[in-house]
Amino acid sequence: MPAELPVNSPISLPVNLPRHVGIIMDGNGRWARQKGLPREVGHEHGADAVRRVVRAARAIGIEALTLFAFSSQNWDRPPQEVFHLMALLNRYLLEERSEILDNGIRLITVGDTERLPGYVRDPMRELIAASAHHTDMTLCLALSYGGREMITEAARRLCRAVAAGKLRPEDVDARAFEAQLDSSRLLPPLDLLIRTSGEHRISNFFLWEVAYAELFFSEAMWPDFAREHLQAALDDYARRERRFGTVPDAEAAEEPGYPGLFPPQRGKG
Ligand code: FPP
Repeated sequence: MPAELPVNSPISLPVNLPRHVGIIMDGNGRWARQKGLPREVGHEHGADAVRRVVRAARAIGIEALTLFAFSSQNWDRPPQEVFHLMALLNRYLLEERSEILDNGIRLITVGDTERLPGYVRDPMRELIAASAHHTDMTLCLALSYGGREMITEAARRLCRAVAAGKLRPEDVDARAFEAQLDSSRLLPPLDLLIRTSGEHRISNFFLWEVAYAELFFSEAMWPDFAREHLQAALDDYARRERRFGTVPDAEAAEEPGYPGLFPPQRGKG
């Protein structure tokens, strides 16, 4: 605890904070339906929740926050809803520009952003460039993003490298594969994945990245999600023991050894 804080300070210092939090923002439509409102109003309140949660994550000290804002499959929604979501993204990028820049936030994206209309792509690229040197937090928007699509693209890149004679097939291992994923170049490993609205699915989000992430499912509909919901997920995360397929250090130290037998099995958790 810093010396200047009194011993009984009510400020709780971040203990075991995840470096990278991903959020599947779900429930905008149901939130609206429950209130007898059009789906679009749900998305508008969802955009307000984005503003709140980015601010909270920055204040708490999260290193990287990825928001699943538009999936590869969302293009198949009715054109009017797609247009509305694009307009909200445009408005978010313009209205939050100064808050992002003033708070040392670096904006990045993952996904097939070439598919986005120019009125989203242009302010997005401008803000990505203007914030590129920031180090206080990374805000990653997953846009036109699909986990399967990203894995397929990584496989394609490796195939090209093999076909060009730059890589041997036997050199294609998990590390080489991961290196082809944009997320691994741009972001720390995913520590915590939150999904709102009480649904328990990954829905083609960070499929590779989720391998050892902790999962947290919130009953809150995304438009209602606020700092206290994020804090609840972080508190839950702080209590978890992450083992990455091994055994806890203490147990490993106690293991008697297996003279003459196979070593104890590791890596199956
Ligand atoms: C899921 O709700 C949410 C989306 C498909 C889009 C998320 C978009 C926003 C939160 C607003 C704009 C984003 C930014 C970054 C400004 P749903 O429509 O699938 O809800 P439902 O499952 O209840 O129908």
